[in-house]
Amino acid sequence: MPGLNTTLHLDMLRRWRHENALGERLSRGLRLIFRKQLYGLEWGDPDVVSPLQFIRDEYVLPFVNSAQVAVEIGPGGGRWTRYLLGFKTLYAVDFHQELLDQLKRNFGRHRNIRFIKNGGTDFPEIAPESVDYIFSFGTFVHLELDLIERYLEAMRMIAKPDANIVIQYADKNKIMAQLNQGFSQNTPDRMRAAVLAAGYRILGEDTTSLWHSSVIRFAK
Ligand SMILES: C[S@@+](CC[C@H](N)C(=O)[O-])C[C@H]1O[C@@H](n2cnc3c(N)ncnc32)[C@H](O)[C@@H]1O
Repeated sequence: MPGLNTTLHLDMLRRWRHENALGERLSRGLRLIFRKQLYGLEWGDPDVVSPLQFIRDEYVLPFVNSAQVAVEIGPGGGRWTRYLLGFKTLYAVDFHQELLDQLKRNFGRHRNIRFIKNGGTDFPEIAPESVDYIFSFGTFVHLELDLIERYLEAMRMIAKPDANIVIQYADKNKIMAQLNQGFSQNTPDRMRAAVLAAGYRILGEDTTSLWHSSVIRFAK
C-alpha cells in the first residue's frame, strides 16, 4: 500500500493534464482524421482490444511464414488481412464482390494477395493440397452448420496435410451470441463434432477469450 508521501495522485493528475492539453488533443484529432480507415475496425481493433489481441498473438502471427501460402475466408475490409501480408501468397476469398472491391481499395497494391470471389463454400482457382494456413474471423459466426460442413469439406481439398486451419465461430453457449440474431446456432460441441466428422484432428481451441464466439484450430 502506498504511504502518505506517494506521488500516485499527483502523477495521475499530471498525466490527465498532459493528455488534455490543447496541443495533445489537436495532435490526437489530426492522427484520427488522417489515419487510413478500415471497414471492420468498428467491431474491435486487434491491435487494441485485449481478447482480439490474444487471438492475433496466439492464432495468427505465429503462423505467418514468408515461404507459405494462406487463405482468408471472408476478409471484409481487411481487419485481419493486415496480419497475413507476410505470407508468400494470400488468397482473400469472399462471397461478395462488393466486399472484395472494398478490400482491394486498401490492399490492392500488395502483389502477393489474390482476390477470389467464391460461391459461398468453395475455393475456385486454389490448387488441391497447396495451402499451409486457413483463417476466418467474423464470417463463420454467421454460417449455419450445413454451410460450415460444406466449407470443411472444401478446405480438406486445398489444405496441405500439415496445414493449420483457424476458424472463429458463433458460440450460443454465450449470452452475447444468444442476443445476436445474426449469429448461427453453433456451439463448441457442435463445431468440434463437425470438424471431427469431416476427418480433421483438433489441435487447439479457445472457448473463453471472446464474448460471443469461440475459436478452433485443426488439421487434416
Ligand atoms: C462481418 S464481415 C467480417 C470481415 C472480417 N473478417 C473482419 O473480421 O473484420 C463478414 C465477411 O464475410 C463475407 N462472407 C459472408 N458469407 C461468406 C461466405 N459464405 N463465404 C465467404 N465469405 C463470406 C462477407 O462478404 C464479409 O466480407
